[in-house]
Amino acid sequence: MRIEVDGTPMEVAPQPGQVLRTLLRQHGVTSVKKGCDAGDCGACSVLVDGVPVHSCITPAHRMDGRTVTTAAGLGTPEHPHPVQRAFAEAPGFQCGFCTAGFVVTASTLTDDDLADRHRKLKGNLCRCTGYRAIEDALDGVVNTACATPGAAVGTSVVAPAAMRVVTGQEEYTLDVPDTPAVRATEALLHLAVLGSPHPHARITAIDTTAAEALPGVHAVLTYRDDPGVLFSTGRHESRLDDPDDTRVLDRVLRFRGQRVAAVVADSVRTAELACALLRVDYQVLPSVHDPDAARRPGAPLLHGDKTSAEHRIAEPTCNVVASLHGETADVGAALAVAAATVDGTWSTGRVSHAALETHATRGWVDPDGRLVLRTATQVPFLIRDEIARVFALDPARVRVVAKRVGGGFGGKQEMLTEDLVTLAVLRTGRTVQYEFSRRDEFTIAPTRHPMRVRVRLGADTNGRLTAMHVDQTMDTGAYGNHGIGVMFHSVSESVAVYRCPAKRVDAESVYTNNLPSGAFRGYGLGQVVFAIESAMDELARELGIDPLELRRRNVVVPGDPLVVTDPHEETDLRWEGSYGLDQCLHLVEQALAGPLPEVPRTDGPVLTGPGPDGSPDWAFGTGVALAAIATMPPRGHHAHTSVELLPGGRYRIGVGTAEFGNGTTTVHTQLVATALGTTPDRVEVHQSDTDAARYDTGAFGSAGVVVAGRALYAAAQALRDEMTARALAVVAARTPRTASGVLGPAVAVEPGGVRVGDELVGHAELLVDGPLVAHGTHDGTPRSLAFTVHGARVAVHRPTGEVRVLQSVQAVDAGTVLNPEQLRGQVEGGAAQAVGSALYEEVVLDDTGRVTTDAFRSYRVPKMSDVPRTEVLFADTHDPLGPLGAKSMSEAPYNPVAPAIANAVRDAIGVRPYRLPMTWDRVWALLADPADAGGA
Ligand code: FES
Repeated sequence: MRIEVDGTPMEVAPQPGQVLRTLLRQHGVTSVKKGCDAGDCGACSVLVDGVPVHSCITPAHRMDGRTVTTAAGLGTPEHPHPVQRAFAEAPGFQCGFCTAGFVVTASTLTDDDLADRHRKLKGNLCRCTGYRAIEDALDGVVNTACATPGAAVGTSVVAPAAMRVVTGQEEYTLDVPDTPAVRATEALLHLAVLGSPHPHARITAIDTTAAEALPGVHAVLTYRDDPGVLFSTGRHESRLDDPDDTRVLDRVLRFRGQRVAAVVADSVRTAELACALLRVDYQVLPSVHDPDAARRPGAPLLHGDKTSAEHRIAEPTCNVVASLHGETADVGAALAVAAATVDGTWSTGRVSHAALETHATRGWVDPDGRLVLRTATQVPFLIRDEIARVFALDPARVRVVAKRVGGGFGGKQEMLTEDLVTLAVLRTGRTVQYEFSRRDEFTIAPTRHPMRVRVRLGADTNGRLTAMHVDQTMDTGAYGNHGIGVMFHSVSESVAVYRCPAKRVDAESVYTNNLPSGAFRGYGLGQVVFAIESAMDELARELGIDPLELRRRNVVVPGDPLVVTDPHEETDLRWEGSYGLDQCLHLVEQALAGPLPEVPRTDGPVLTGPGPDGSPDWAFGTGVALAAIATMPPRGHHAHTSVELLPGGRYRIGVGTAEFGNGTTTVHTQLVATALGTTPDRVEVHQSDTDAARYDTGAFGSAGVVVAGRALYAAAQALRDEMTARALAVVAARTPRTASGVLGPAVAVEPGGVRVGDELVGHAELLVDGPLVAHGTHDGTPRSLAFTVHGARVAVHRPTGEVRVLQSVQAVDAGTVLNPEQLRGQVEGGAAQAVGSALYEEVVLDDTGRVTTDAFRSYRVPKMSDVPRTEVLFADTHDPLGPLGAKSMSEAPYNPVAPAIANAVRDAIGVRPYRLPMTWDRVWALLADPADAGGA
């Protein structure tokens, strides 16, 4: 069959049933991305004879004689299509995994189509941006700017990879047509997994005979091949932060879909066929799917064979992974004498990260005999070290490479595919690839922890908190990955942000036979913040005090201790960091006092509030909520970086963090350029490769700017000092009489070299004595606090329960704003994700732990028409702990959004929502029977 792809004629032979996307990628056309297999997400969009289609549902055999255009065919980094240039300059992307598809579809839009953009682009999803920036790109709005030498910080400079992203040239994990394997002529092998059909079972026998006999099968891996080392898929600086409860292939299965066996074969299809030929006998075990039931005596035990001391499980005999119980004073007594009290129980749903790039790893043995894993991870160094430990390899014999990652949100702080690929590579000696399907992402990849949170508050007549009790139970699922860290973090800053003389916290992380929960943007804070901020709103109503004013009276201020459960508890959170919470409250208060913004983002009538143009069917309300978050994780987060001067006045930085849309790479170039008196475009980034960069804990916990950025700035300053010293030596050698005294204060690093007095010492002269490299290190401590305050105005449709967000405003204290447009994008994207999980996103399980929402059609992530435009306001502070005054802001925007919307719904309808998401049917039920709202 003959087709033309991006102007190049190709002779191809599609396999039976093959779709266009797999055909294109099989032939090295990696500008076409895989986000799903169902025509839902649009990452695979291409033009067929000029018409946009989803190539993942387009039969390949129908392409005979057709012309196919991908993002790479629209333009190149040097000569981009106007739409691509607009996406770069807006910038209309973060991770960029959706961008190749977006630009393809957008390139066909007429002016009339642009007016109808929500419908025309409903087939393209973006999980990162919140869509405002994409709409700016469609409208030709330029939000980026060029920096002047030495003054890049504070400017919205464009991401270094922008042109490659918008033209489909940027490499993601599996965008790798050639693998430098030992036997490069041998084709890539693929891995498929047989998942457990039972939520709890023991394998009594596996017959692999028929599967192994299938032509094309190279290996069948079962529990008999397990290396015998327990580990956790959750990764942290200290592996001791997580319980050792997981095996590569376990004989006991603790949730539906858990690996029973894996097949390595010539193709995915053959591997899947072989999986179906495996004959497995199970001893089905009783299962438990509710954390409260799992805590009761006699409940089935998931890890009863393990011990607290050896495996770091708090109470394996009652399914408790971790617990925290403590108080600062007698909360019961304080509640008994309080002038006003609130007592309610809030619950949150299970949420999928839904990053458009699925988890995937390709592994091989390089010509030196070292294991190489190219993988979608936020933590390459932590993956390297754990793979080496589990498989008894020397870490120096393992290399982990992360190219640009197509979205993370905490989901790629897990080791989900790397271990199985390693086992397969070690067994076969071949290059092996394992790629999650979208269904896998929904059914076996960890989700956000569902929580049940009871909050009791007491206050005096002046609205001063006198008692706070937070009682949290979370479902960590079948394995304890992140189940300890999320539990502790969930009740940390959420409780510490308020002054209160009597605080009590009870928290438990509980095993169930549900799919595992894990790290998710906010790391547990969002769930507890939803409960506490809802309770604060209710307390304000009890007291007759404005909800924002009540918060103002009770939030901690510099000088207050940051106490959770023990006033004598050591904490590395410091008030030496900047404080902008007061500004954030003021900014949101002002914004909510103004007129409603235009609301062009949802279908249906424009709602402007009660009045002549407002239907009586709609109820209107306003809500606020706040959140604080530490600027990096506790217990250590390390970054070791390098900056090297290259010939021609360019610089090369080595940094271990991965780029997955968080924008740290851009900020890193800004920090280095500022220190070195140059512009970011002269800074080359080598990152997230354990061979090419020095150790970095990884890109999570909002640490990319604060930790790695500070280490890079230190390295750049050291290089600047070294360049200055060399320049002085050069000048002193030429004019020894004037070297001291005259020259000291008149030395400056410039784009052309180092200026000493009137003399410019060029880069070539600086490099005469050999290469110039400087290193920087930062261990992250002490930590500071970043703040967010969210305000929402909503309309609730009484007949249906629909909640429509009319105004969304968030004020953030991120310290010095290093890149305003990127920071705005992080806030908008976090707010959009939070709107999704507040109103409709939920991974639904039946009573036996079976996921019933296993595709984008049943699990709804926000489309362009779904999310409100969030107004983003910046507090003006300078954090002395962060690089050039900056704090972190990638997780924080998520946390206050759901409670702000819930409080607005309460304001609108007079009934409080206690459960997320606030779906139409649930809100309708609240209206139908307010007494049944729950919460008691
Ligand atoms: Fe759209 Fe990441 S930028 S999915």
